[in-house]
Amino acid sequence: MNLPTLKEARAFLSEGQARNPGAWVDHSIVVARAAEAISTYHPDLDPYDAYIMGLLHDIGRREGVTGMRHILDGYRFLEEKGFEDAARVCLTHSFPIRDVRAALGRWDCSEEELQFVKDTLARVAYNDYDRLLQLCDALALPSGFCLIEKRLVDAALRHGINEYILPKWRATLEIQRAFEETIGRSIYSVLPGVMENTFGLRQT
Ligand SMILES: [Fe+2]
Repeated sequence: MNLPTLKEARAFLSEGQARNPGAWVDHSIVVARAAEAISTYHPDLDPYDAYIMGLLHDIGRREGVTGMRHILDGYRFLEEKGFEDAARVCLTHSFPIRDVRAALGRWDCSEEELQFVKDTLARVAYNDYDRLLQLCDALALPSGFCLIEKRLVDAALRHGINEYILPKWRATLEIQRAFEETIGRSIYSVLPGVMENTFGLRQT
């Protein structure tokens, strides 16, 4: 695995927070905790590596408030440092289905850059880490873990929808089903506070 150490990953995230403060930092930490928790029960995943990938999956946000270009910025930032596995996840985490048209955010990049994303998605074989991060991205609000369906609706309300939304939702729920089969339990059973966070029980 070509990943930074946890110390390096934390330093990248704090630097990113200083450059572009926002909810994305807390979201990234929640994604990392979910990835670690689920990996603990998975025979082929390393919780330490999964945590690092979670911390860095949105690191492209360090470049400012952007749309889909954050996946390219994150990819480049980590690729240039030689952290290929963390870089790949920056690019794949938004695509439970491999189609750039399924992205709900705007494509604020050049034609060449968009072509690069298309080519990369067509070329890479998704591994369990790619799928894990797609899953965890879909259950992590900045305030904590939540029901996947809530987070999917939250994203649709923020960005709008297109004709790819149902295949994308189905793919995300299929990833959940596959992970639950492998770990032999509901993912929610290993995510503390999911009920309180989903239903806002702590806010009363
Ligand atoms: Fe994310």
